[in-house]
Amino acid sequence: MKRRTFIKGAAAAGASALLPAGALGSLLAGCTGAPAPPAWDFDAPVDRSGTWSIKHGRAKDGQLAMWIADMDFKTAPYVSDALQQRMDRDVLGYTSTPPEFYDAVAGWVSGQHGCPVDREWVGYAPGVITSLNQAYLAFTEPGDKIVIQPPVYDHFRLYIERLGRVPVENPMIFEDGRYRMDFEGLERLFDQRTKAFVLCNPHNPCGILWDKETLATLADICERHGVLVFSDEIHGDLALYGRRHYPFCGVSEAAARIGLVFAGPTKAFNLAGLSGTAYSIIPDREKRERYKAQLGNQKLDEPSIFTIVATIAAYTHEPDWLEALKRYLEGNIDKVVRFFEDNNLGIKAIRPEASFLVWLDCRALGLPQDELMRRFSEDARILLNNGASYGTGGEGFVRLNIGCPASVIDEALARIKRAFT
Ligand SMILES: Cc1ncc(COP(=O)(O)O)c(C=O)c1O
Repeated sequence: MKRRTFIKGAAAAGASALLPAGALGSLLAGCTGAPAPPAWDFDAPVDRSGTWSIKHGRAKDGQLAMWIADMDFKTAPYVSDALQQRMDRDVLGYTSTPPEFYDAVAGWVSGQHGCPVDREWVGYAPGVITSLNQAYLAFTEPGDKIVIQPPVYDHFRLYIERLGRVPVENPMIFEDGRYRMDFEGLERLFDQRTKAFVLCNPHNPCGILWDKETLATLADICERHGVLVFSDEIHGDLALYGRRHYPFCGVSEAAARIGLVFAGPTKAFNLAGLSGTAYSIIPDREKRERYKAQLGNQKLDEPSIFTIVATIAAYTHEPDWLEALKRYLEGNIDKVVRFFEDNNLGIKAIRPEASFLVWLDCRALGLPQDELMRRFSEDARILLNNGASYGTGGEGFVRLNIGCPASVIDEALARIKRAFT
């Protein structure tokens, strides 16, 4: 079996083990006299046939699958290698969450996002949505209100409702092609039954990287009303165009008191099939203990071996693969944005500041949502996500997943041009 290098021991050493970008490359170049060629090629098509891929399983008759949020790229070679090395041991018994996991996450969040995190604050989390659901159960009662900001990831509303809580919408304001939070709306909305706010940071589907000031203001308002903030930061490792992701609990003291962050390497390293690969950051000790007890009561605190191995590998290696991936995604986004600027089809692409999902504003077409979706799926033969599924403000929009080789983007844009001209 072909092997590549996994930096052993880096995890145990924690934050200080995170090499600055480019350090490993320079090290290798120093040894061999020439920089090693990158061991990845994002242009290469990835064969997902026979892998039970949800994304591709739903595509029929040559449709391009550009919907659910996973990418058509292999994961980083150092993550695959670590998983393979662990498999080679052939022993797959119950596994605890080792110190290396906490060190890896604390080191990554501190180093990559400039947010100092005490390893005590870090916990294993059984997937981001499952973790949010457990937060609803641990910190709210049936009938309590939980605020969401649509258009937003549909699984927030879905599970708040399924768990007997009441989702309350504070729609974002969309002006001059940009979204912002409606703080006045929020102040009006909060009442005695409002117990929590679900933040999408960065925001899916609109691709917003929330700035520090916005998050600190949010923290102040929520704290004043006794509302906790559950922050979904699953797309946080994919901040683009040199911009920064701000983990919520690091933006102010108020945010640290009321914030619970849930995130993981699943989006950035394309590990979604390793279900349950996530972590929590909860600075406040009482809340941390309560959350931990909740997971324990539901037997959700035992990780799979593979989630632990993959997380440590992803978060302790020099992020060279991730940086290259981000440059590639920026190229795909530029292509899509330019295409809609150059072709007068009545569709505008809102450039995401993070991740691989492009929010397309199709309102100028004036089509009913069903007809809009039919035009994409039947005329253009592209499967993408229906904007209306993300709640208020999503009507007239669709979400396009550009996490794929550029050749697929070219084909999709050609199909869109034919279908909408
Ligand atoms: C904002 C957001 N949160 C959570 C998830 C799913 O996370 P998990 O698979 O860890 O439950 C997704 C997947 O698309 C997402 O976009």
